[in-house]
Amino acid sequence: MFAVHLLAFYFTKLKEDQIKKVDRFLYHMRLSDETLLDIMARFQAEMQKGLGKDTNPTASVKMLPTFVRAIPDGSENGEFLSLDLGGSKFRVLKVQVSEEGKRNVQMESQFYPTPNEIIRGNGTELFEYVADCLADFMKTKELTKKKLPLGLTFSFPCKQTKLEEGILLSWTKKFKARGVLGTDVVSSLTNAMKRHQQDLDVDILALVNDTVGTMMTCAYDDPYCEVGVIIGTGTNACYMEDMSNIDLVEGDEGRMCINTEWGAFGDDGALEDIRTEFDRELDLGSLNPGKQLFEKMISGLYLGELVRLILLKMAKAGLLFGGEKSSALHIKGKIETRHVAAMERYKEGLANTREILTDLGLEPSDADCIAVQHVCTIVSFRSANLCAAALAAILTRLRENKKLVRLRTTVGMDGTLYKIHPQYPKRLHKVVRKLVPNCDVRFLLSESGSTKGAAMVTAVASRVQAQRKQ
Ligand code: GLC
Repeated sequence: MFAVHLLAFYFTKLKEDQIKKVDRFLYHMRLSDETLLDIMARFQAEMQKGLGKDTNPTASVKMLPTFVRAIPDGSENGEFLSLDLGGSKFRVLKVQVSEEGKRNVQMESQFYPTPNEIIRGNGTELFEYVADCLADFMKTKELTKKKLPLGLTFSFPCKQTKLEEGILLSWTKKFKARGVLGTDVVSSLTNAMKRHQQDLDVDILALVNDTVGTMMTCAYDDPYCEVGVIIGTGTNACYMEDMSNIDLVEGDEGRMCINTEWGAFGDDGALEDIRTEFDRELDLGSLNPGKQLFEKMISGLYLGELVRLILLKMAKAGLLFGGEKSSALHIKGKIETRHVAAMERYKEGLANTREILTDLGLEPSDADCIAVQHVCTIVSFRSANLCAAALAAILTRLRENKKLVRLRTTVGMDGTLYKIHPQYPKRLHKVVRKLVPNCDVRFLLSESGSTKGAAMVTAVASRVQAQRKQ
């Protein structure tokens, strides 16, 4: 009995010491409520800057009008195609929407690989590849004879002047195909589809950001939904803004969805005081240095790498692994976000940590495992905190636009990090509620993702188009 107590005491003490050590080392990554409120205020100012005609050209948060004005009203009908390019997976989808008294959606989908040669090669080849996959999908699903409207989920910043057009402003995440910047993505895909004229008869009716797709998917089930957030490979949010506040689009009536592109927050230096040496190092080694600085502190493509850089520095300082550095720890990309998620699992977390570190060629002690696990917690908690601060700014803006004392609203959520990390959603929700106590927020996970939303946008567009023709 005494031995058991002694062991428990030893473990508690070990844990306390390791946590203290890591907390001290990563002091700069732990953001106080005060700092979060400050970041929230900065993001509110950024949104205003992006929306103003004169200030938009120099704004880093672009606040892009999406030309999505209506959320689904349930009267949508028909068969639609949807493509999803830019997330963790490339997907083609056929959606059947029918009224039948209640809202009813049926889907068939297929994933296709996106090899680096394609997404970082020549733009024309990228679109030809996308068209080839679509043709393949139509063939396997025996749809070749049908004329179908298509919605394209394209998860990159695009300048739109109408729903069915989008000029690529910059590549983000893992994409960097040549010759696409500054050109219209919809015409490029339409051109590429011409090679399959015999099999493909599709009309691209809408280009939709994944955040917008997420919001639309959730709005189909919950009409209160007016915000869409992605925390996946990248991170971003959209929300419904009053037309009277959107200088860049004519007209003052009703609302339009704005794609904030919040990933670029800080690209003008606005977050230098909270960025750490690890954020800077990660940025220097990335595909787009100096860009998407907020995203690089948050999203799935980067969290694992941040953890790796921290562990390397701690090992070099003799704070981990007895000062040993395995060569694997030196290799970029060796720790991925899925590893971070596994290390933070409630029960198996510590065992997972040991396994992951051993696979990296290290021989971790108990103390090392506890410390590494805590590093993961600090990095992923910071990510959730930062997202919460920006989201709280959006919610406050919505509440103020509506001149309400209390706002009741729903936020549509999607993204791999949000979905696979065991504690991320809970932490995010809690911090948002703390930052905006005057908002009753419901978080709704987008069932079947943003691709369905693109089909919904297309369905709405084709409903509106049909109404116009009548
Ligand atoms: C990146 C893209 C943005 C997208 C987000 C999530 O931030 O620039 O358009 O919504 O990733 O996929």
